[in-house]
Amino acid sequence: MQEITIAIDGFSSTGKSTVAKQLAKHLGYVYVDTGAMYRAVTYYAMQNGFIDASNFNVDGLVTDLPKIEIGFKFNPEKGFAEVYLNGENIEKQIRTLEVSSFVSKVAAISEVRKKLVEQQQKMGQDKGIVMDGRDIGTVVFPDAELKLFMTASPETRAERRYNELIERGDNIEYEAVLKNVQERDYIDSNREDSPLVKAEGAIEIDNSKMTLEEQFTKILQLVEVAIKQN
Ligand code: DC
Repeated sequence: MQEITIAIDGFSSTGKSTVAKQLAKHLGYVYVDTGAMYRAVTYYAMQNGFIDASNFNVDGLVTDLPKIEIGFKFNPEKGFAEVYLNGENIEKQIRTLEVSSFVSKVAAISEVRKKLVEQQQKMGQDKGIVMDGRDIGTVVFPDAELKLFMTASPETRAERRYNELIERGDNIEYEAVLKNVQERDYIDSNREDSPLVKAEGAIEIDNSKMTLEEQFTKILQLVEVAIKQN
């Protein structure tokens, strides 16, 4: 069967990656979590003293970009590809609230975006890919056969993220998570380079009141239509 490119964009914690992983598994496609790539650069910046609560050395980070190698390796136990930074598995380290609180700033740097977008375009050159992020349908694959734009209320998203962090054993307040979600929405939607907007031709899915099953069924129908039309 003809393989297509599926671009999934949307606000943070809209469940993009959950549905993208499910879809990729079902279709036998490659799944790429581009947020993990921006998080990996942020983690590098933190580890190397380029960013903390009181300092942000953009020039230092940009100069170091050639030293940053990001890769993915499929973990059969988990059923998805985990992210590696210069050969080290950093899947767990990039999911902290600390990385979340700096990542939007790092993702607003044009040099960082250029590097990661080029890598993403290479990863998807043979199609058969599900990629999620903020600029996949607008910048990375504007010609994707299927573009989805996921939304949900900030409170719903904060609650989902809060539950995930608590499950991981983090000691965190719901209010802090909600604040982080709202701040990231603002920065991601208002940055100059590739702001988060609904791509032309994207289908919007508000999943505030949808179960995972309902969402998956609906998206699978859209995939089938897109494959037929292709
Ligand atoms: O999807 P996520 O929450 O893991 O993404 C982390 C941050 O990276 C988010 O605040 C926005 C940014 N991002 C981006 O600018 N472009 C992408 N394609 C993916 C993520």
